[in-house]
Amino acid sequence: MSTTTLPTPADLTITPRDRKFERGKLDARLWHGGRVEATAIYNALSTTFPVGEAFFVESVRAFRDGAPPKLAEEIKGFTTQEAIHSREHAAFNRRAVDSGYDLSKLEEQVDFRLAVTKSKPPVVSLAATMALEHFTAILAHELLKDPRHLAEADPEAADLWRWHACEEIEHKGVAYDTWLHATRNWPRKKRWEVKAKVMLFVTRNFVVDRTAGAMELMRQDGVTGFKAWSGLIWYLWIRPGMFRKIGVAWFKFFLPGFHPWNEDDRDLLRAYEASTAAKAAPAPVRKVRNAA
Ligand SMILES: [Fe+2]
Ligand SMILES: [Fe+2]
Repeated sequence: MSTTTLPTPADLTITPRDRKFERGKLDARLWHGGRVEATAIYNALSTTFPVGEAFFVESVRAFRDGAPPKLAEEIKGFTTQEAIHSREHAAFNRRAVDSGYDLSKLEEQVDFRLAVTKSKPPVVSLAATMALEHFTAILAHELLKDPRHLAEADPEAADLWRWHACEEIEHKGVAYDTWLHATRNWPRKKRWEVKAKVMLFVTRNFVVDRTAGAMELMRQDGVTGFKAWSGLIWYLWIRPGMFRKIGVAWFKFFLPGFHPWNEDDRDLLRAYEASTAAKAAPAPVRKVRNAA
């Protein structure tokens, strides 16, 4: 497949939104609606971002030489966005630590997974990044599509997650296009086999590690055993059921002709932009009748 026929929209621009979120202490340790399992899974996810997204940047940049100019430009936007995500989630994680969580076990597990991946040829890191970026993009899509996911969360924290989700959608094709470029001379069958195998592998690790991470954080809140398992499973798979809801989009990755931009979901970005613009706009001046 030629890299000139990629379905990434021709008018897509990747624009880093260099936002800085709250640095002070979280108003509540259970910032996600006072819910142990919701706070735990989002904190477990956030723990992976600072080093995980630095790894994505490294993996994609290793293949930028010789990339077509449009892709090279998109890689720049992608790396800047991910670097800012790392910075903001590192700050968010410090707030979680300040509210009493110990994230060290979760961080060690991320370091372990990355060390295993990095011990393999660089194209494996690129494939893992490409698979995880699809994963992130479909989570982001669901997060922005259904406001119930963050409805009860601390507003500033919810804002951080929405901002991150928006940029994940915007750059969702970059790792995939870099992968297509890097493997342009591979036979179709080999390309599909590697991509499918890597996706299955990273999905297994993602589900197992994030679940274990969330269980560990719930344990730190005194919730263990059946209560912890059932609460977490209900939250992730039933209601709001984020993991269940991304199932179809996850499966599409394996279909022939898959590309992240086969679904153009920039309407979610426009809605996000409109909501932040509305929040930033000064309140309209209203005439107030003098009561005197
Ligand atoms: Fe990111
Ligand atoms: Fe990303």
